[in-house]
Order: sequence, then C-alpha cells, then structure tokens
Amino acid sequence: MFKAVVITCSDKGSKGLREDTSGPYIKDFLENLKFEIIDQIVISDDLETIEKHLLHYADEKGADLIITTGGTGFSPRDNTPEATKNVIKREVPGIGEMLRYESYKVTKKAYLSRGVSGIRDRTLIINLPGSLKAVKENLECLDNVLDHGLKLLKRLDADCGEE
Ligand code: MTE
Repeated sequence: MFKAVVITCSDKGSKGLREDTSGPYIKDFLENLKFEIIDQIVISDDLETIEKHLLHYADEKGADLIITTGGTGFSPRDNTPEATKNVIKREVPGIGEMLRYESYKVTKKAYLSRGVSGIRDRTLIINLPGSLKAVKENLECLDNVLDHGLKLLKRLDADCGEE
C-alpha cells in the first residue's frame, strides 16, 4: 500500500475564506486506488511554507506520493512549482507534459498551469491546478501511470513490458 499526502495550496483556503473541494476529491480518488492517506491539509501559498511541508512529508513521514493542488498559475502568489523545484532531486517532465497535453483537449487554458512533477529520494511529488474541474480532468490521466511509476520508484516488482 502506497502512502500519500494531499496538499492544497491556497491563501484563501488556509484562512477559511474558501472551501477546499479539490483536496478532499484527490483524497477520495487515492483512497479508491487503495492509497493510505497520511494527511490532507490546506496551507497558504507561501513559498517557504510549501517547501517546509513537502520536506516534512517526504523526509520525515516517508510519503510515497505527494499531490499538491493550486498555486500553479501566473498570479504573484502562485509559488507551488517553485517550492516543488526547490525540493525535488529528479524532474519528471513527462507528467506535466501529459497533463497539459490531455487537458488542452478540454480547455485551451490548460497550458497556463506551470505545474511540475519530480522525485525527492523515494517520494514522487505532482503539482495539479487548483480548480475542482481541473483536478478531475488531471486525475483521469494520472490514473494510467501512478501505480507503475510508484512501483518503479519503490523498487517493487514492475514489468515495463507488460502493456
Ligand atoms: N487544466 C484542466 N484540465 N482544466 C482546467 O480547467 N485550468 C487552467 C490550468 N489548467 C484548467 C487546467 C487555468 S485557467 C489555470 S490559470 C491554470 O491551470 C493554473 O491554475 P491554478 O493557479 O489554480 O493552479
């Protein structure tokens, strides 16, 4: 069973000024895939705050997967990609490419998400956009690659030639 954390990055959400529907949706989605959810939290868009939480769950809690939602756009407070880049050791550009490519079929604005994905030791970190609509569309694509990617990362038996 893989251990996962869901982090919503939102100034308004962290102050209770906006209900977070995206984080709980991701949590339910992962639970349906039999992930163990360590935590599902809402934090502010502060660069250092995001970094601190990513490091905590990757290094101290041993999360296999951290999915963030929000803060990937163009606003000055959208810091999630920068915080993620500061903690990952290996980039996984293909995940962002896939999410934007598939999402573009639904909305032309998909390419406005600057979300990145990467690996810190044994933890995969994936940035998703903030809206529930975007989260639903992105999770559909991720469903195809999550299990295989995490098995490789954890050195569990995974045969790349199966499909
Ligand atoms: N991707 C999908 N699949 N569906 C969407 O509706 N919205 C886009 C983009 N990615 C969208 C999407 C928009 S409008 C923005 S501004 C960016 O994600 C960044 O969103 P964020 O700032 O909430 O992270």
